[in-house]
Amino acid sequence: MRTRIAAGNWKMNTSVSEGTELAKSINSFVSENKLPEDVKVIVAPPFTHLEKVASSVNGNQVIVAAQNCSTELSGAFTGEVSVSMIKSTGATAVIIGHSERRTYFHETNQQLYTKVKNVLAENMIPIYCCGEVLEERNSGVHFYVVEKQIKEGLFGLSENDIKNVVIAYEPVWAIGTGVVATADQAQEMHAFIRKIVRDKYNNEIADNITILYGGSCKPSNAKELFDNADVDGGLIGGASLKAEDFIGIIKAF
Ligand code: PGA
Repeated sequence: MRTRIAAGNWKMNTSVSEGTELAKSINSFVSENKLPEDVKVIVAPPFTHLEKVASSVNGNQVIVAAQNCSTELSGAFTGEVSVSMIKSTGATAVIIGHSERRTYFHETNQQLYTKVKNVLAENMIPIYCCGEVLEERNSGVHFYVVEKQIKEGLFGLSENDIKNVVIAYEPVWAIGTGVVATADQAQEMHAFIRKIVRDKYNNEIADNITILYGGSCKPSNAKELFDNADVDGGLIGGASLKAEDFIGIIKAF
C-alpha cells in the first residue's frame, strides 16, 4: 500500500520554542483524531530544532525530517551537518534537493544523488524534490527537466533503495507564489514520474512509491490536489507554519 504524506517544510522559520509548540499542536491533532493508517505526517524544522521537535512527536505517525544534509559523512567540513548527526537527533527523514537549495546553493543532481545515498545508508527516508521553473514550463521542456532531475538524482539506486524514497514534485513557479498547479497539471506530471519509475524499475515499485505535490498547497486546495490518482499528498511550505492551516491540509486525507 502506498503511504500518503503531509510534510511541512518550515524552511528558515521559527525559534526552537515556537517550533516545539507547533510540532506539539500537530502531534496532538494526530493523536486525538484517528487518521487512516496509510497516512503519515512529517515536520521538517531547521537543524537546531530537530532533537527537541523529535522528542515532541510520537515518532510513528508523526515523524521528523531535516531540510538538507551534507554530501560528506564526517570530518573537517565546517558548518556541515551529516546524516548520522541528523539520525542521532531522532529525525528519520531528510528533504533533498529542494529548489531553494538547487537555486541558491547551486546543488547539482550529482551531489543530490550522493546525499540520497547517504540518507538511505542510515536507513532513513530521502524526500527527493524535483520541478521545473516557469520558463521551462512555458517552453514545454518541463517533462524533460523533471526526468533529468530524477534520472540523475535517483536512477543509480538499486530496487531495494528506491523503494524507500519519497519523491516531491514542486514546480518552482508555484513555490511561495500563491500560484498553485491545477489538479490536472499536478496529476499529469505525477503520472509521468510514476511512468518513468515503472520503466526504470518495475510495477510494484512504481505503484508503491509516494509522490508528493508541493507549491502553494493550502487547506482550500489540498483535497482537490490529493484526490488525483497519482498525487499521494503534499510538501507544504508557508501553510505548514500555522498549526491550524497544516491540520486543515492533513484533514484533506
Ligand atoms: P509553499 O512551499 O507551500 O510555501 O509554496 C512549498 C515548498 O517549498 O516546499
